[in-house]
Amino acid sequence: MKSQELFERACKVVPGGVNSPVRAFTSVGGVPVYVEKGEGTRIWTVEGRELVDFCGSWGPLILGHARPEIVQAVCDAAQKGSSFGINTKGEVEFAEQLCGLIPSMDMVRLVSSGTEATMTALRIARGFTGRQKIIKFNGCYHGHADYLLVAAGSGLLTGGITASAGVSPAAVAEVLVPEYNDLEAVQQIVAEQGDEIAAIIVEPVAGNMGLVPPAHGFLEGLRAAADSCNALLIFDEVINGFRLAASTYGSLCGVTPDLTCLGKIIGGGMPIGAVGGRAEVMKSLAPLGPVYQAGTLSGNPVAVAAGRATLDLLVEENPYPVLDAHGETISSGVNQAATENGCTMHCPHLGGMFTPFFGIGPVTNLASAKCCNTDAHAAFFHGMLDCGFYLPPSQFEVGFVSAAHTTADIEAFVSACAEVVASLRSVG
Ligand SMILES: Cc1ncc(COP(=O)(O)O)c(C=O)c1O
Repeated sequence: MKSQELFERACKVVPGGVNSPVRAFTSVGGVPVYVEKGEGTRIWTVEGRELVDFCGSWGPLILGHARPEIVQAVCDAAQKGSSFGINTKGEVEFAEQLCGLIPSMDMVRLVSSGTEATMTALRIARGFTGRQKIIKFNGCYHGHADYLLVAAGSGLLTGGITASAGVSPAAVAEVLVPEYNDLEAVQQIVAEQGDEIAAIIVEPVAGNMGLVPPAHGFLEGLRAAADSCNALLIFDEVINGFRLAASTYGSLCGVTPDLTCLGKIIGGGMPIGAVGGRAEVMKSLAPLGPVYQAGTLSGNPVAVAAGRATLDLLVEENPYPVLDAHGETISSGVNQAATENGCTMHCPHLGGMFTPFFGIGPVTNLASAKCCNTDAHAAFFHGMLDCGFYLPPSQFEVGFVSAAHTTADIEAFVSACAEVVASLRSVG
């Protein structure tokens, strides 16, 4: 069985052959990979090809594939029953664990995806403040709820779609969209319309236009802007949460949001999401308050078991200094290869997250990210794939180092990058 054959079959029964658009290789071309299995840092394609994975299921697999302790936790939980729709001890302990690790989180509600977490956070914000308008940033992606598909990043950039069809104009009319890192624009909106704004939602470290860290003072400025108009500040940490520390980026940088959205890592590879924050705000949720939210599989015992095992391991092993060192090796290695080959590109990292941007210097917002040479990125992606490395198949995504990657994996990756960058001289 070949990826090509599976893709052709898939295209007949699944729109575009994929269950999520960025998997389709739209921006890099070629036939998408079909995976047979994963273990540690490796995935094996259906053709039996071994690849070193730097996509990590788009973030959740910070401990690598099929980590034995997580597999065991999943099996143990599944054996006791995969879903009850009734409360379990595990979800109480998981909520206690999350609130214990995240100082800004007094209470948390579990959902089944990052999209549900951000939808719920914004409904809480609107219910709590009695206001409708939301500030979201150009190029930040917060899942696929209607009103969040304004100027969203990730697959909407990859596919060249600036907003989705099927979204009613009314849904997006209340969403105001300044550039990421442009605090002055936020302050101006707040000065003019502050008493109508329910929330400012932001990825504290943007990861859906490629990796774009917050400018010095940006997040502090958002906190002050939200306070000045009594709006809520929502950190969407679906990527960031537990990625840079065994907590959130908010805890790490000392800026306290009212609500935090989580997903990805906290499910250890199983479907999960969470929204949590200040008790006064969280108490708006039904059955305590008037904001309705529900889910048949919310707090699913198997997902909770995988999440708890993941967080236990992260706390116990503290892989973060090593992830940061590996990220630094990748960033400096790629930047050096670019300089040596006269290739205009820039590869920032934060901890174990990195993005090689082609044809451009430092990227600070979507406007600069969009100036990238996506053809050079596509050639780089395929060059790396030929060398046995799987990266996210889009310029506007983040590569992830996992705790399973060894120094040898990172060195091999950097030397393959140098080889591929040298071969790209003509396009870079
Ligand atoms: C920052 C951010 N928020 C929300 C989401 C949506 O999460 P999910 O795909 O689990 O619905 C994503 C997904 O990539 C994300 O990166």
